[in-house]
Amino acid sequence: MSTMTTNPGQAEKVPGSGPALKVATVFGTRPEAIKMAPVIRRMRQFPERIEPVEIVTAQHRQMLDQVLELFSIVPRHDLDVMKPGQDLFDVTSRVLLGLKTVLQEERPDLMVVQGDTTTVFVAALAGFYLRIPVAHLEAGLRTGQRYSPFPEEINRTLASHLAVLHFAPTPKARENLLAEGVPAERIVITGNTVIDALLATVRQGYEFPGEVAECLQSGRRVLLVTAHRRESFGGPFEDLCRGLLAIADRFEDVQIVYPVHLNPNVQGPVRRLLGGHARISLIEPLSYEPFVQLMNRSTLVLTDSGGIQEEAPSLGKPVLVLRETTERPEAVDAGTVRLVGTDPERITAEASRLLTDPAAYAAMARAINPYGDGRASERVVDAILSFDFERERLPGPAQF
Ligand code: UD1
Ligand code: UDP
Repeated sequence: MSTMTTNPGQAEKVPGSGPALKVATVFGTRPEAIKMAPVIRRMRQFPERIEPVEIVTAQHRQMLDQVLELFSIVPRHDLDVMKPGQDLFDVTSRVLLGLKTVLQEERPDLMVVQGDTTTVFVAALAGFYLRIPVAHLEAGLRTGQRYSPFPEEINRTLASHLAVLHFAPTPKARENLLAEGVPAERIVITGNTVIDALLATVRQGYEFPGEVAECLQSGRRVLLVTAHRRESFGGPFEDLCRGLLAIADRFEDVQIVYPVHLNPNVQGPVRRLLGGHARISLIEPLSYEPFVQLMNRSTLVLTDSGGIQEEAPSLGKPVLVLRETTERPEAVDAGTVRLVGTDPERITAEASRLLTDPAAYAAMARAINPYGDGRASERVVDAILSFDFERERLPGPAQF
């Protein structure tokens, strides 16, 4: 049984010398799973010291399952919360109540959450209510604008208040945490675990599955697109689709390949505005392996995704970010990522420049690694193993 509960009479656990630390990973969406998988894999290498307990909220269903299958993760608990067309209230309430039961049963010594989704904020809150220490992966990303991205900026800020251990991917993220009063000794700069996942997955000589192979058959240059941000739903999303349409009309040697996110607010406008164009391939969300190979095969990436802004610079792929703000300034500063927003003319102009001007393209197409060296999960697990659990112990049983 776990000892991180504060009930008197339970056995003491000393990291490294006693029974294994029970470490629960709680995650729910595709990007969380991709970024948590390397940490789970690393924890499994220390069975005498760590007992990993995977808890998925399944805020995403199909897109989560694709990742679980690829990385051979069979969760011990699956809250299965996703409902088609869910809103923030649905996810928040279902995750909170689901976790109450599971966490009371498991009583982990530590919970690890990743990123800025509603699963992350709510899991951190549940941990706090139950006095389970929470470690936050990818801590300290900020735009400084409460509604951009929405609701992620506030989700991650609240997670920082609830967590006791913060894994900052970059020095900039650490600075953001320090500026908000997080004690320096509770922050560890690790790099982002997405680079661990990427490097473990990308390879030469990959054979694409049928649907992707068809998109590549023409031999045209590939412009890879993803977009799903809530703050863009409605007008801005239609605008960005118009930008993509203009690019497809202008460049006969370019194939836009867009694995469309399953959110109905994305599927609707994308299929209505972009469906049926010969040089736009709208495909299902891809499993991580074909997706990163496709990114590696692309000329240019247009996206509002957080994870892709981190991965593409490692592969030397220029990224135009379809957002007004980014919490990932490192690659922008290095010149391989550019913010272009959702205005169709701006999107068309920026993409056209890169597709027609080799010097402009070369200036952006440099491989850089501001987000990690592929060893972030080692640093995370080292920090967990040397974490001072005794300091987190509170007197008396948890009351809630
Ligand atoms: C969520 C996160 C966002 C993250 C994104 C990654 C919140 C509020 N949003 O946004 O931060 O960047 O995931 O992709 O936490 N759906 C399916 N199958 C799936 C996944 C989604 O059908 O596997 C559909 C469902 O209709 C679901 C809807 O998409 O109700 C919205 O899913 P939700 O997780 O609420 O929001 P996302 O837009 O995916
Ligand atoms: N991704 C994937 N299949 C796809 C699109 C994206 O596996 O069809 C991966 C991508 O490589 C990145 C992650 O999913 O690691 C990003 O997820 P998403 O854009 O949904 O979320 P965000 O990072 O914006 O929170």
